[in-house]
Amino acid sequence: MSAFVDRTELRHARGATSQFAGRGALDAALAELGELLAGRRVFALVQPPVAALHGGVLDRIAERVGELRRIDVPDGEAAKTVSVADRIWRELSVQGARRDSLVLAFGGGSVGDLAGFVAGTFARGLGWLQLPSTLLAQVDASIGGKCAVDLPEAKNAVGLFHHPLAVIAESDFLATLPEAELRCGLAEVVKMAALLDLDLLERVENELPKLLGGESDALAPVVVAAIRAKTRVVESDPEETSGRRALLNFGHTLGHALEAEIGYGRIAHGDAVVHGLRFALALSVARGGDAAFAARVARLLDRLGSPALPPLAAARLLERIGRDKKAVRSGAVWVLAQAAGEGRIDRDVPSELVAAELEKFLGARAGRPL
Ligand SMILES: NC(=O)c1ccc[n+]([C@@H]2O[C@H](COP(=O)([O-])OP(=O)(O)OC[C@H]3O[C@@H](n4cnc5c(N)ncnc54)[C@H](O)[C@@H]3O)[C@@H](O)[C@H]2O)c1
Ligand SMILES: [Zn+2]
Repeated sequence: MSAFVDRTELRHARGATSQFAGRGALDAALAELGELLAGRRVFALVQPPVAALHGGVLDRIAERVGELRRIDVPDGEAAKTVSVADRIWRELSVQGARRDSLVLAFGGGSVGDLAGFVAGTFARGLGWLQLPSTLLAQVDASIGGKCAVDLPEAKNAVGLFHHPLAVIAESDFLATLPEAELRCGLAEVVKMAALLDLDLLERVENELPKLLGGESDALAPVVVAAIRAKTRVVESDPEETSGRRALLNFGHTLGHALEAEIGYGRIAHGDAVVHGLRFALALSVARGGDAAFAARVARLLDRLGSPALPPLAAARLLERIGRDKKAVRSGAVWVLAQAAGEGRIDRDVPSELVAAELEKFLGARAGRPL
């Protein structure tokens, strides 16, 4: 149970984000960031359940800064609205936020996305820090500077790139996560491992029971490797223009359509991604990808134990896929597994092939546990 902290930088157009991950990440970060924090006014946006479980963390930060003001935000996706952002902009204004004030996000990816959005827009940009407390937020949402809130019409519809000064992914936070949250974070880990880091894939295969059991000694190195993998991709394509960052959407083309069709809140994002990855693997094989590797990743996804899909109409899903904001003029963008550790972005999958594979997939999977 010893400390194990990985310290990386994510370099971007405006500087660099200091990333601390592992057991003892909070101590390491507070030690290194002492000068940055000293005397500053910090507005901590927190998910109340996380503060209840890990409230001592805020007290420790309060000791290092000029002044810490806590602002509770609604739990979960409900935080990511323009009206919540508006309430916080006004609180910052009334409470005297200045250009050198900092915003801090403490909780899952929802509060991280909201806090980055508020920090990026208030006074044309305040510095901010992230303390991600879910596995999904530590490996994915907190890395890469994308911040957004939702509109009733579409998720993540209004946002910007605003990189935090630091990300502190403390493994001890993960000890209180329910298994469903761990499973959803692991879905994103598998997404990255399959295309970017085969050592990580093997580690997840070997340690899955411990990872699903929330053992922080097993989780810490997985978080570290996933952060490193995502950081490399983000640095190679910071604003998703050259295409490489799109590899992170593996499993998300169908995953997003499933979430929208089944209903947000009725299927977890990570579970939708698990089904989306299963389908992307089938499509990869149909487009000439390595069948043995696809079968290997599919076996791992099956072991995650996501709930079965309800009965769904292929035609409605195909329509949603065509409407996705990532779609290009010629149609949907598919991220495929070409070979072990090698992804491919395919913009030319014939829609008849997608339709035929989707019918097969839904027929085989609906009503059956994965
Ligand atoms: N910006 C990005 O690049 C990016 C990438 C992926 C996902 N996201 C966003 O992230 C969000 C999802 O993040 P999430 O899965 O962390 O969800 P979340 O923030 O809604 O948190 C899920 C639940 O876990 C609870 N929780 C958080 N930490 C806990 C802990 N340590 N112990 C016990 N319970 C805890 C929360 O109270 C909440 O109820 C979505 O809004 C998604 O759009 C953003
Ligand atoms: Zn995702």
